[in-house]
Amino acid sequence: MKKINNIYFKKAMAKFATGITVITINDKNNFIGKTVNSFSSLSLNPPLVLFSLDKKSSSLSKFTKAKSIGINILSKQQKNISIYFSKKNNNWGDIKYYLSKNHIPMIDNSLVNLSCKRIKSIPTGDHILFICEIVELDMHSKVQPLIYLESNYLK
Ligand SMILES: Cc1cc2nc3c(=O)[nH]c(=O)nc-3n(C[C@H](O)[C@H](O)[C@H](O)COP(=O)(O)O)c2cc1C
Repeated sequence: MKKINNIYFKKAMAKFATGITVITINDKNNFIGKTVNSFSSLSLNPPLVLFSLDKKSSSLSKFTKAKSIGINILSKQQKNISIYFSKKNNNWGDIKYYLSKNHIPMIDNSLVNLSCKRIKSIPTGDHILFICEIVELDMHSKVQPLIYLESNYLK
């Protein structure tokens, strides 16, 4: 086996195909969205999910303070939304959304919208692990997921 280093770590992890989510919060009526593929399901009872954010992320403190968090699992038609929310200081321009009961922006036409309560933020390595409990969800079963593999969106 090869000794681990950053290059091998990144190359090996890029072989793991993931879906794409946009994590959203409402910070005093200022909407923040961030493209995240570190999302995973965690527990059925209670219904928990997780994702992680880089400690260097510009809006990290807003996410660690947020009581409610939205998780939008993107469809194949939403590659442009994934690219948009991977840029800094996005202002939501033409992004279409609706508000959940807890006033979190939920991106229209996503494959799945999860309205969550933030349960824990755990600093781990160079990231913060977020654990969230799902409160409500919307699902569009007929659309295909957006898939990310080896730093590319699958066609
Ligand atoms: C496909 C993809 C997946 C990403 N996943 C994560 C992630 O899981 N966690 C994270 O902190 N940033 C992730 N990013 C980076 C963020 O979307 C964003 O670019 C980064 O946080 C820089 O902006 P910021 O400093 O304003 O946070 C991902 C970017 C892309 C394109």
